[in-house]
Amino acid sequence: MDMTVRPRRLRKSDTLRRMVRETRMDKSSLIYPLFVKEGSQVEEEIPSMEGQYRYSIDRLPFELERLLKAGVDKVMFFGIPDVKDEVGSQAYAENGIVQRALREARKQFPEMYLITDVCMCEYTSHGHCGVLCGHDVENDKTLELLAKTALSHVEAGADMVAPSDMMDGRVGAIRRLLDENGHKDTPILSYAVKYASAFYGPFREAAGSAPSFGDRKSYQMDFHNRREGIKEALLDVQEGADIIMVKPALSYLDVIREVKERIQLPVAAYSVSGEYAMVKAGAKLGYIDEEKIVCEMAVSTYRAGADIYLTYFAKELAKFMDEGRIG
Ligand code: PBG
Repeated sequence: MDMTVRPRRLRKSDTLRRMVRETRMDKSSLIYPLFVKEGSQVEEEIPSMEGQYRYSIDRLPFELERLLKAGVDKVMFFGIPDVKDEVGSQAYAENGIVQRALREARKQFPEMYLITDVCMCEYTSHGHCGVLCGHDVENDKTLELLAKTALSHVEAGADMVAPSDMMDGRVGAIRRLLDENGHKDTPILSYAVKYASAFYGPFREAAGSAPSFGDRKSYQMDFHNRREGIKEALLDVQEGADIIMVKPALSYLDVIREVKERIQLPVAAYSVSGEYAMVKAGAKLGYIDEEKIVCEMAVSTYRAGADIYLTYFAKELAKFMDEGRIG
């Protein structure tokens, strides 16, 4: 055979394949989502997310320790309050669950980078991501509360805040309030490109945040749309976002790629609860190889353009990277 170009030449050995790899990953880009709740000695497994737990503040240090040991030094806190009301007042309470978790984590683990999810849905009695006017989520009134929540997180020790509510103008509102209070250097990771997705199902069970009526389609995006995602990302850039997130990850790789090409900011992707639950369930049934699937999902997300990866598999991925199985 007279053939000069043979792509297989570079696939001959593991050494060669590693040398020519186009996607490389690093543990420093992993963020682990963590649920904190009221009470003491609580470490309860989330039924739809085997291997994931809700922790009370006194048990939180054990998990943070395990994360640091694995080489994961960034977490995203989600709070599960005992009391919910119409206006989600525990979201911005001085002694709210996330605020106390932050103080504790800050004190015990100064090396841990603490990010908080800023949203109302875990705190409102109706489960929507903002305050209501009738059955409508009131955009502009919600902005004040989101900004207040973000500020209270930063004052309790958050290094970065991540608004996930999808109200219009929230990045700008948060940026302004943080700046006015001397937090000019605290970055905002915006869930800018967040779709109304069935992949959040297990999370809503985990956080008890399913809406009591209707759905989130009047604020989260329609998953038929890609250009709209770019519009949202560009708006958040203008409002002062520092990092743009696409969520979910697996079904949205095209969106990640496009955001990466169009936006001059780091891009994060969130592999959400439904992605985690599907892998766990499939592996348990013996239909798929969990480790290989987790690695392939992660690599494809980075290959699509993600610089930062939020995943419930962060500890496992860190280990796979250490062992040279991916990366
Ligand atoms: C809060 C929020 C949600 C998730 C992250 N922040 C739920 C939702 O929007 O309904 C989902 C995370 C996951 O599914 O892992 N708004």
